[in-house]
Amino acid sequence: MADKIFYITTPIYYPSDKLHIGHTYCTVATDAMARYKRLTGYDVLFLTGTDEHGQKIEDKAKAAGVTPQQFVDNIVTGERGVLDLWKLMNISNDRFIRTTDDYHVRSIQHIFRRMYDNGDIYKGSYKGKYCKPCESFWTESQLKDGRCPDCGREVQDAEEEAYFFRLSKYADRVRDLLENTDFLEPASRVNEMVNNFIDCEGGLQDLCVSRTSFSWGIPVDFDPGHVVYVWVDALSNYITALGYGNDRYHDYEKYWPHAVHFVGKEIVRFHSIIWPAMLMSLGEPLPRKVYGHGWLLLDGGKMSKSRGNVVDPYILAERFGVDALRFFLLRTFPFGSDGNFSNELLINTINVDLANDLGNLVSRSTAMVEKYFGGVLPGTGDLDGELPDMVRALRGRYEAQMERYQFQNALDEVFRVIQRANKYIDETAPWVLAKDEAQRPRLAAVLYHLLETVRVCAVLLTPFMPESAEKILAQLGADESARTWESAARFGVLPDGVTVRKGEAVFPRIDAAKELAELDAIQEAAKQAAHEPKIELEPYATETVDFDAFCKSDFRAVKVKACEAVKKSDKLLRFTLDDGTGTDRQILSGIHKFYEPEQLVGKTLLAVVNLPPRRMMGLESRGMLISAVHRVDGEEKLNLVMLDDAIPAGAKMC
Ligand code: MSP
Repeated sequence: MADKIFYITTPIYYPSDKLHIGHTYCTVATDAMARYKRLTGYDVLFLTGTDEHGQKIEDKAKAAGVTPQQFVDNIVTGERGVLDLWKLMNISNDRFIRTTDDYHVRSIQHIFRRMYDNGDIYKGSYKGKYCKPCESFWTESQLKDGRCPDCGREVQDAEEEAYFFRLSKYADRVRDLLENTDFLEPASRVNEMVNNFIDCEGGLQDLCVSRTSFSWGIPVDFDPGHVVYVWVDALSNYITALGYGNDRYHDYEKYWPHAVHFVGKEIVRFHSIIWPAMLMSLGEPLPRKVYGHGWLLLDGGKMSKSRGNVVDPYILAERFGVDALRFFLLRTFPFGSDGNFSNELLINTINVDLANDLGNLVSRSTAMVEKYFGGVLPGTGDLDGELPDMVRALRGRYEAQMERYQFQNALDEVFRVIQRANKYIDETAPWVLAKDEAQRPRLAAVLYHLLETVRVCAVLLTPFMPESAEKILAQLGADESARTWESAARFGVLPDGVTVRKGEAVFPRIDAAKELAELDAIQEAAKQAAHEPKIELEPYATETVDFDAFCKSDFRAVKVKACEAVKKSDKLLRFTLDDGTGTDRQILSGIHKFYEPEQLVGKTLLAVVNLPPRRMMGLESRGMLISAVHRVDGEEKLNLVMLDDAIPAGAKMC
């Protein structure tokens, strides 16, 4: 057992917004891997958590009018927060770390000090570019078209006294690690890292690892105006959660460095360059592997709240079931590459693989045992050649794929066997055998083949769909010994006289057209609700206006007696106004695009009345109505300034 130790981690998530299906993807994959390893007899520690510091969170909390701690608490522990989501998705993590946990904070201070004491952290002054949403510093040469190379957003100038980590010192060792070991996978990501960040112009630069311009972070204990750069804080979670630098846990010796980090491709840089260099500086061993998975895309682009295109895992899990969603994520997209999410694809996968192939195999097999043998299968009979051979070979083929983190291929192997078993039913035609009393032993043998095939497939599907696999195994009457990893390499484990209980369909078929229409409507409504409109204001005047000159402007309350569109003009409205003088005032205003005349009659508006008269379309205008103007998502908006109707016509504004 000593060598069967496995430590697997997800990235710790920013609790700055609710998590979406893209985040869920990585956690479900990690969970499947953790469950698979446990099944194979490993002692597994599965860690996930939240990365709660940084300017982005400080800013969001401020905007929400709460403290940063209240803000993150709500997203992590609140209703439908991070913890609720992992519970819903049946995530079997053994530990959950929050970077605001006291023990983590103490460990980070210890780690920072150790790197400072050994000379790898020094004080300097930071001048460069900072991408706020990514919390990343960049040099001018690293920018792409002047923007953040990770997210493409605008960057800001930044200059402040700061501590630096001697990342440059580790360039050769990190290059060697990337090029000459299988530390980073898929291998296709290695060149990108080496070329863009190590062998780039200027080489690997030292990294700014403290900030003074905001305070929501872990203070550097020997220089409290500084907070530790969030990536140093976040990356270290993988060891602080084991008890490194604290006495909350005592698992470091046992689980480190048997670690695999699953991370999304955009954070591979941090995990494959900065993280190993930090560990080298600390004199600690490196994790076994960093696996950079692809993104789930929507309409070809990354899901993000600011784009308004996030998919809510709650909605999907509630409609289709947690297991169907987990399965879909790992069955459909190759783990190392990007994949396009769509509702059609989800429904199609559920119908084809789960309802049709797997669901039919399970229900036909158990139904026939009930129908022909009252649920108790007598004798196992002679075994046919092909199907048992295929089933016996399945575990090895599946294992080879799982060990390479190729979930999709592992599931392909299982479904190839499921499809073969469905064909076997058609070939052996049990309903024909059932008509002939003399064929009963053969009928029992055929059904036994089916039960055993279903059993092995269900055991191997357990990491992906724990509850459904459990239900299927219960229907087959499989006891503990028929659910083990060892039993999945054998054919003929269910005993003579096994009792089968056909239950409800594990995966009912979905009415695709109906579901799609409903889902699209729900998601569209959520998109609309989540969309934060972009508001643009007119630029502020740069010149001052002379006070006396300004005071000469005569602002008055005016009441609209009549309003009509000016003939032959698209824009102009003609107002007949009561200005309190007893004589009607006429003002023309180019606002027809924003108001219909009848909306304005009776309103009390604000006008400047001492402008020189102007003629428009042959009519005289004596003054100007005051409006508020701005743009929303590029579209011009105009609102007339409306005064309280209690204000009498002619009242002067000053
Ligand atoms: N807090 C950092 C990680 C620190 S790890 C020491 C972070 N957090 S995150 O919440 O922005 O992202 C967490 C993970 O979710 C990342 O691995 C990221 O790649 C993944 N995903 C976010 N959106 C995703 C998709 N649309 N598709 C797949 N994974 C995506 O980064």
